[in-house]
Amino acid sequence: MRPMFVFLVAKMLSKGDVNDRTYRGAAVIELIHTATLVHDDVVDDSNRRRGFFSINALWKNKIAVLVGDFLLSKGLLLSIDNDDFDLLKIISVAVREMSEGELLQIEKSRKLDITEDVYYEIIRQKTATLIAACCSLGAAAVQPNSEHIEKMRKFGELIGMAFQIKDDLFDYGEEKIGKPTGIDIKEQKMTLPLIYALNTSAAKDKKWLINSVKNHNKDKKRVKEIIAFVKQSGGLDYAIEQMKKYQTEASLILNSYPDSEYKTSLQTLIDYVIEREK
Ligand code: IPE
Ligand code: MG
Ligand code: MG
Repeated sequence: MRPMFVFLVAKMLSKGDVNDRTYRGAAVIELIHTATLVHDDVVDDSNRRRGFFSINALWKNKIAVLVGDFLLSKGLLLSIDNDDFDLLKIISVAVREMSEGELLQIEKSRKLDITEDVYYEIIRQKTATLIAACCSLGAAAVQPNSEHIEKMRKFGELIGMAFQIKDDLFDYGEEKIGKPTGIDIKEQKMTLPLIYALNTSAAKDKKWLINSVKNHNKDKKRVKEIIAFVKQSGGLDYAIEQMKKYQTEASLILNSYPDSEYKTSLQTLIDYVIEREK
């Protein structure tokens, strides 16, 4: 999905006339993205990815750390070897922010003092910056130094926010999505539905929720109860509502561009982000 954003933005801005920089940019994004997922499954102690065993499940953490590093350096070298330094800068900023986002998430899962604003900051850093990088990179590949780079960065950031809210909603479901569900609470990761439930529940329920996440997060029955409570509090509906706001804002930016088949495809891709089944 991420390379598609690179290509479609580049095509929209160049009327379909993309260059080699676009192809390299798209390849770098996919390499970096895969590297971060390989590392993420170590961090989250997750054993499945895209319907198969994760690298850490197959060969343990040591190998996964090294494979992630290998993919990361392969990506960076693809830019360096071709003097795509403007693209390299966009990508490096994204990698730094992703690491910061993951660290902030860990800090909050230890203290359990996350607010809605901090949640948005975490997902902006850990997920939205990479999709922002895809779109600004697509613009930079065909229109270096143009105002489209920043405009498309913002566009991608908004899509990325919607994407991660959707991803966090999957964790509350039971559908087969190619990776485990119900693991966020196990990892004490409080996402938007739970934050909403906490903010809207009575003091007694709030205490029960925090205590459950803190001290009973490996207890399957208790986790099911937390999930049921969150659903009944309207946490999922609230998250869906927020996700749609980001989608609408992204569409607004897109609509400032003239109609083209690429613009239509980008709109379809935004819709896919929030409607996808996995
Ligand atoms: C994905 O984050 C990794 C990064 C954004 C760096 P999550 O841990 O929330 O996502 P999944 O559920 O494992 O894909
Ligand atoms: Mg993670
Ligand atoms: Mg994960």
